[in-house]
Amino acid sequence: MTGPLPNQTMSLQDFLSIRDFIYGRTGIFFSESKQYFLENRLNRRLQEVNLGAYRDYLGLLQGAQGRDELKELFNEITTNETSFWRNPPQIEAFQRIVLPEAAALARARGGNRLRLWSAACSSGEEPFTLAMICQEAKDTLLRGMTVEIVATDISEKVLAQAREGSYGSYTLRNLTPAQVKQHFNALGPESFQVKPELKQLVTFRNFNLVDYANYRSLSTFDVIFCRNVLIYFDDAVKSKVIKGFHESLYPKSFLLVGHSESIHSFNVGFDLMHFSKAMGYRKRDQA
Ligand SMILES: C[S@@+](CC[C@H](N)C(=O)[O-])C[C@H]1O[C@@H](n2cnc3c(N)ncnc32)[C@H](O)[C@@H]1O
Repeated sequence: MTGPLPNQTMSLQDFLSIRDFIYGRTGIFFSESKQYFLENRLNRRLQEVNLGAYRDYLGLLQGAQGRDELKELFNEITTNETSFWRNPPQIEAFQRIVLPEAAALARARGGNRLRLWSAACSSGEEPFTLAMICQEAKDTLLRGMTVEIVATDISEKVLAQAREGSYGSYTLRNLTPAQVKQHFNALGPESFQVKPELKQLVTFRNFNLVDYANYRSLSTFDVIFCRNVLIYFDDAVKSKVIKGFHESLYPKSFLLVGHSESIHSFNVGFDLMHFSKAMGYRKRDQA
């Protein structure tokens, strides 16, 4: 007999086993109040793969075919909310203070390359915001410099949207008409695509922030943006991720986290920077 399976109720035991599995693979920690959220999200997957029980779904994830299903799991359980120019005071501090200092440091190192990392970039609004700022400074502050923005996420679904670079007019609401004109091609009255010259500044890549041994593969950065993802991690994971960022930055370089994400208690060699209505961190010279 075929046809949709009825919705499955997730028992507490199912929930605990799946949430421990998710925590081990992603660092995302679901407290017990999130049982219904997981049940909702994973019911869809059970239907898709035609399984009638959560323990069988966990078996699938842990088995030989687990790799492909893991990608689907990551797409389902992540929260991908983002926007262009998110947290304007921090973006403006990047534009006015961090970028000029990072460029000066890179030049002092004898380099003409500026490398930025948007870690947990979702559908691309954050790295494209940084790309716009760099593009607008290319004949002034960044004259003669090459800019490379590495944008990473764990969800293939949002990375595909980011690579496409197409956005509806509502998504562009925080940008000025001049920015939309300069950086986007209109595909229709309500649809815009990032121009190729902006796209070429950004490389999208799948990267799991809990793959601690892999940070080195991304090489060294002048600025890391990691906003609105640390909130999903517990202290043990946060502390290792921040250590990974520390090792991925040049001395005196910059880490910008979300406005509710103080890294104070895991601070392994960063100094706090106060901007107007925003903050950031700078890697200590001798840390
Ligand atoms: C709320 S969005 C933040 C997007 C953007 N940084 C911003 O502030 O607008 C969080 C993103 O973190 C990603 N994410 C969650 N766990 C991750 C992990 N372990 N490694 C990499 N990305 C992860 C999610 O897929 C999601 O796209």
